Amino acid sequence: MSDTVIIKEVAARDGLQAQPVHLSLEQRLSLVASLAAAGVPELEIGSFVSPKAVPQMAGTEEIARQLPVVSCDYSALVPNMKGYELALAEGLKTLAIAISATEQMNQNNIRKGLSDTFAMAEDIISRAASDDVAIHVYLAVAFECPYEGKVALSTIIEQATHLMRHSPARLVIADTIGAADPAAVKVMMTELVAQYGAERLGCHFHDTRAMAIANVYAALEAGIRQFDSSAGGLGGCPFAPGAKGNVATEDVALLCAKTGLQTGINMAALLDSITLLSEFIGAPQGGRSHYWLSNNWQKVFH
Ligand code: COA
Ligand code: ZN
Repeated sequence: MSDTVIIKEVAARDGLQAQPVHLSLEQRLSLVASLAAAGVPELEIGSFVSPKAVPQMAGTEEIARQLPVVSCDYSALVPNMKGYELALAEGLKTLAIAISATEQMNQNNIRKGLSDTFAMAEDIISRAASDDVAIHVYLAVAFECPYEGKVALSTIIEQATHLMRHSPARLVIADTIGAADPAAVKVMMTELVAQYGAERLGCHFHDTRAMAIANVYAALEAGIRQFDSSAGGLGGCPFAPGAKGNVATEDVALLCAKTGLQTGINMAALLDSITLLSEFIGAPQGGRSHYWLSNNWQKVFH
């Protein structure tokens, strides 16, 4: 098993997309630059979605044009082929598509039914293969849906089988509303790792029920080494009522450091990013370990 954990930093997308405060393009760009300077290996810069649906993400193309040149895999979320083409035109080489496991969540999120959403995902994955673009497919509401309730493990395994047939670069199991628990995560991820190997799998957790970091640990035990997280734990989904912040990047980095796993994160720089984020949002941000890390990060990170 690898001792390196790849963190995809999502504060600039999942973090900002449901905030009542709308950041200016300049603020979003300085946030992205600050996070990139913190050494995150992957960074989601925003989404190419309808500005009517998610005004917080308007102008992501401008951000894509001004990305700092550092060794970081920049990506964006796209909801449909139009978004894919807009992102491709800006030269992004990794894109995320969010497929929900339930009919109602797809309808509310992207105004398409389940079968149309899967068909669209397949179209985007095959188009991306010819454009040399890596697709991260998100299977959203993978444990519970805010509209349809609990999602059966068998549904996720079946949908994963379907999606993996099209060979996305990564399949990310997403607990969009933070309803998962470590036991459920361990069972699901162990089964998926057995079928597909850990290299093409990732996890995305929200902290609604205070389970996010425990869920990361359960997934680590199942062999998963790719996680989404958000600096300061910022996050939420405008179309998933009750969804709270993402698992905080500083908490994941601390957990990894304490369990002998490398993330490459520069903690001092990440704490600076969180300070910047707090300033932009107008309220203090920070995951569970943020206060302690602010005074003690040198005890763990060098
Ligand atoms: N980027 C920008 N604009 C887009 C777009 C995209 N990816 N896709 C469609 N549009 C525009 C169309 O051009 C059209 O514009 P117009 O009104 O000026 O003619 C308008 O949006 C409606 O197009 P349509 O295809 O009918 O979309 P829709 O109204 O059915 O909405 C989505 C579908 C997917 C575009 C919209 O629901 C969306 O952007 N959802 C984002 C969801 C999201 O980000 N969720 C959180 C993360 S999981
Ligand atoms: Zn999310």
